[in-house]
Amino acid sequence: RAPVTVTSLLEKKHHGEKIVMVTAYDYPSATVVEAAGVDMVLVGDSAATTVLGLDSTVPATVDELLMLNRAVRRGLRASFMVSDLPFGSYEASDYEAVKSAQRFVKEAGAQAVKLEGGGVMVDRARAIVAAGIPVVGHLGLTPQTATALGGLRAQGKSAEQATKMVADALALQDAGCCALVLEAIPAAVAEELMPLLEIPVIGIGAGASTDGQVLVWHDLLGLLEGRTAKFVKQYAHLHQAMVAAVHQFAGEVRDGEFPGREHTYAIPPEELQRFQG
Ligand code: KIV
Ligand code: NA
Repeated sequence: RAPVTVTSLLEKKHHGEKIVMVTAYDYPSATVVEAAGVDMVLVGDSAATTVLGLDSTVPATVDELLMLNRAVRRGLRASFMVSDLPFGSYEASDYEAVKSAQRFVKEAGAQAVKLEGGGVMVDRARAIVAAGIPVVGHLGLTPQTATALGGLRAQGKSAEQATKMVADALALQDAGCCALVLEAIPAAVAEELMPLLEIPVIGIGAGASTDGQVLVWHDLLGLLEGRTAKFVKQYAHLHQAMVAAVHQFAGEVRDGEFPGREHTYAIPPEELQRFQG
């Protein structure tokens, strides 16, 4: 498989081929998405909730995410790696935005960074692009600022919100973003947006009209128990499968069934005799 690039993603869009994006947070998940031929891998700040067990993405730090990013990088070959910039690492100034983005490129091999929001964040995106780093925008439900949005809920459900989203999307495109993620917005709003955008648009809870779709690793595989968002489809139920496997191990240990002879090392008989004296 040829390495995915900004150019090949644009070609996919032009040919009407859907773009597949999945999050990954460590070496094994990276090797799986790579083997499955996923186009884009997002090392999401969703790691804060899915990997670290926090209840929002807000506390995620650059250093925490960098460690996960480096592990993902080691598992990828052809997939295009996008790294989320965490809350607090890019908003305050163009300088901070560029400095943070550079860390993900230099220290973890990111091929693009993603940041959330429109408005002044468009300037941050432009500054990072000017520094030579591809940027992916993210509009709609932006979990880093969910408190300001009134919680984790669908966005763009009023005419005013939808109009603002169109303006932000066009501004991010003008700023040079190489792609845009739209999260949790009405399908009809995404459909209005699509003809206006020349860059690849990846949806999550934005309906079927976008150029591609992204899901979170843990959601797609059913790795965590509990409620999932409306936009999630679970393609496996690995939490149950893993509990069953560990449960079976525990049972075999307790019954003395494990380890068997095949899991056990031998010593040459003469060595054993000398040892036992
Ligand atoms: O962090 C994340 O997983 C994301 C996707 C949901 C787009 O930003
Ligand atoms: Na994110």
